[in-house]
Amino acid sequence: MVEPGQYVVIGNPIEHSKSPQIHSMFARQTGISIEYKKLLCPIGDFSKVVSEFFASGGRGANVTVPFKLEAYKFSTLRSSRVEHAQAANTLINNNGVITAENTDGIGLVRDIIGNLKYPISNKSVLIVGAGGATRGVLLPILNEGPKAITVVNRTKEKAHQLIKTIETEASDLSVDLASGGLLDLNDGQFDLVVNATSSSLSDEAFPLSTNILSSKALAYDMMYGKEETSFTRWAYTAKAYKTVDGLGMLVEQAAESFALWCGELPDTRTVMETLRSE
Ligand code: ATR
Repeated sequence: MVEPGQYVVIGNPIEHSKSPQIHSMFARQTGISIEYKKLLCPIGDFSKVVSEFFASGGRGANVTVPFKLEAYKFSTLRSSRVEHAQAANTLINNNGVITAENTDGIGLVRDIIGNLKYPISNKSVLIVGAGGATRGVLLPILNEGPKAITVVNRTKEKAHQLIKTIETEASDLSVDLASGGLLDLNDGQFDLVVNATSSSLSDEAFPLSTNILSSKALAYDMMYGKEETSFTRWAYTAKAYKTVDGLGMLVEQAAESFALWCGELPDTRTVMETLRSE
């Protein structure tokens, strides 16, 4: 029997977060009693706010924009995924020792492979963006054995740097790695395109050629929301076979965090259905 515990999601802004709703559904489903709240953290105060929370008995925290890098730095122990991503979205308090995990990549991969039934192995993958969101998902995608991974970014150099970081891990795999700027791609045959930029909500056209998708391509926006984004508009024009937002990833990464804290992986299907029906 797991004891009741206090958990939070820390971010700024935080009002929009669906995490408390998701975790309360997990708690009901598993019969594990957790209290999970939103915690708005002033910019610059992450260390202070999270220290106070853990000192007052907090058992775990999810960390969201813009504090994932600070969460990585704050932790005492880090998984290899966190070391690689240099970003953490989950903190676990084990008797005062804070361990950091990053469940974003697992969440994305489980949603694509498990929920959407779209295997990544042997596929040509394009990731757009080269910030923290990309760092979190790059290695988990590589581990699925794609045929190729290309990272493109507005600032080209950051894409080159990121691809460099996985060259060692990729050396035993037969995967083609490439990087470049957004406008470097004029044609292609990508099977999976993941939007990991923070540009989705801008009204500008998504800065990517509409001539780069294979006939069964999945376009995956890591952002979620009711509204169309510049990425989803691009995907319709580019004739993606299927276009999805990141709600599934959100629920799957939450489930993995819940499992790390409470030792039980909850069922995500019913939670996703509830959120989609709202
Ligand atoms: P996160 O941690 O959420 O990934 P980040 O590290 O600030 O946030 O990275 C944001 C990503 O979105 C970057 O790849 C950024 O491109 P730059 O590296 O050139 O800044 C990308 N991005 C943000 N706004 C964009 C826009 N309007 N068009 C294209 N890319 C954009």
